[in-house]
Amino acid sequence: MGRLDNKIALVTGGSRGIGRAIALELAELGANVAINYRGGKAEAEETADMIRERGVKAHVAQADVSVKEQARGLVKEVVDTFGQLDILVNNAGITRDKTLKKLTDDDWDAVIHTNLNSVYYTVSAVLPSMLEQNFGRIINISSFVGQAGNFGQSNYSASKGGIIAFTKSAAQELARNNITVNAIAPGFTLTEMLAQVPENIQEKILDRIPMRRFGKPEEIARTVAFLAADGDYITGQQINVNGGVYM
Ligand SMILES: NC(=O)c1ccc[n+]([C@@H]2O[C@H](COP(=O)([O-])OP(=O)(O)OC[C@H]3O[C@@H](n4cnc5c(N)ncnc54)[C@H](OP(=O)(O)O)[C@@H]3O)[C@@H](O)[C@H]2O)c1
Repeated sequence: MGRLDNKIALVTGGSRGIGRAIALELAELGANVAINYRGGKAEAEETADMIRERGVKAHVAQADVSVKEQARGLVKEVVDTFGQLDILVNNAGITRDKTLKKLTDDDWDAVIHTNLNSVYYTVSAVLPSMLEQNFGRIINISSFVGQAGNFGQSNYSASKGGIIAFTKSAAQELARNNITVNAIAPGFTLTEMLAQVPENIQEKILDRIPMRRFGKPEEIARTVAFLAADGDYITGQQINVNGGVYM
């Protein structure tokens, strides 16, 4: 028996990177997992196959979560498919790094819509079914940049700080309904998002990390699984998984 047997999870941006690792970890514990992607269908299908190899059900759903109708449609699709949704992991995220002098309105809007507004859209959509079943685990993937700020990431840091604040308010409202809402703030983690950073900058970043290494997606995923499976009395928290880069 897995600790998440018969639970249904949705991981936005679950096709690759941290989202894929989260989907696999939840599947490992017995959850049936829906993964969402925006453009990378092949990677999403590959992740779904890996989920099924763990003996649970997988569902692949294309949706751009920055668009409110699509984000809400995604939640509806999962509830219609499985009859319930117990664990919502808001993981989809993008960067459009530029200093404020060069940042465009489009760079600002794209990051805020994708990283922050999407969280509101999916949470508002899932609430009726979580309230009805008097159970829910909502886990939002923020970033240490939302706590500390970062040069060239004013849009990204605003979106990730917003996630933390949203998490605390939602947690206060929903605690009495046995719905927990928490945020995880990863440090620099080995995915394609980090690979976009030039190598010489990556070396400088390493010097800033007390543990002198980047995080692994699996290390974030295990924290999500802990909150989903064992975090019954944890709500409104931001859990830092960052090698000490922000304390
Ligand atoms: N990597 C890090 O160092 C780091 C550190 C702190 C926090 N984080 C956060 O962790 C989360 C995952 O990051 P990652 O590094 O795994 O990123 P990644 O490797 O770039 O993967 C991003 C995922 O999000 C999906 N996605 C992007 N925009 C989307 C949209 N509008 N609608 C639906 N899905 C969308 C992508 O799907 P497609 O391939 O289909 O576009 C992909 O599955 C993000 O929220 C990120 O901000 C990452």
